[in-house]
Amino acid sequence: MKFFVDTADIDAIRELNELGMVDGVTTNPSLIAKSGRDFKEVAAEICAMIAGPVSTETVALDAEGMIAEGRELAKIAENIAIKVPLTWEGLKACKVLSGEGRMVNVTLCFSANQALLAAKAGATFISPFVGRLDDLNIDGMELIAEIRQIYDNYVFSTEILTASVRTANHMKEAALLGADVATAPPAVIKAMASHVLTDKGLDAFLKDWEKTGQKIL
Ligand code: G3P
Repeated sequence: MKFFVDTADIDAIRELNELGMVDGVTTNPSLIAKSGRDFKEVAAEICAMIAGPVSTETVALDAEGMIAEGRELAKIAENIAIKVPLTWEGLKACKVLSGEGRMVNVTLCFSANQALLAAKAGATFISPFVGRLDDLNIDGMELIAEIRQIYDNYVFSTEILTASVRTANHMKEAALLGADVATAPPAVIKAMASHVLTDKGLDAFLKDWEKTGQKIL
């Protein structure tokens, strides 16, 4: 499973990238607002650092506006993926932009039918928001399983990009279900390394090592 980082925080991306943990980056208007920076500047910096796709989002509500914004965003760098919302207008924009050979990430997906439409419209990525479904007491991961089955049934090449990931468990579930990508905040990716038994075991080993009075260096 590919790891995308869901942030516009350059330092956090750099740190994870140095460990080889970054196959791409996703941003959205909320994350850009959080960074407090000019979106084109941030996007260009991220694109220069990362070889994989960097998603930046359109904000128009009509297809024509999304297409114009998407073309503008694509000028930032070769590896820009244009994000459009999963609305009827967004699907129209997806069809045109993907027809021009651009990467399109169809976002705010909450149902398997929406994902089916995005694949038919030529989306490069579909972004189902698992955390926001969980918030409503609907199992977000069930949606990933449904989309996986539908895409496999008809051999759609659209990649399932699990989004709105909130926990390390979401990452595991996405990988078990065969999601192509999961995008997560840096803290969630780091949390995947933690285990209480690792900490406990390390503590015990170090205490015993101290008793030997020996040194490695
Ligand atoms: O990947 C989409 C993400 O940025 C939304 O996450 O936690 O606001 O639902 P969240």
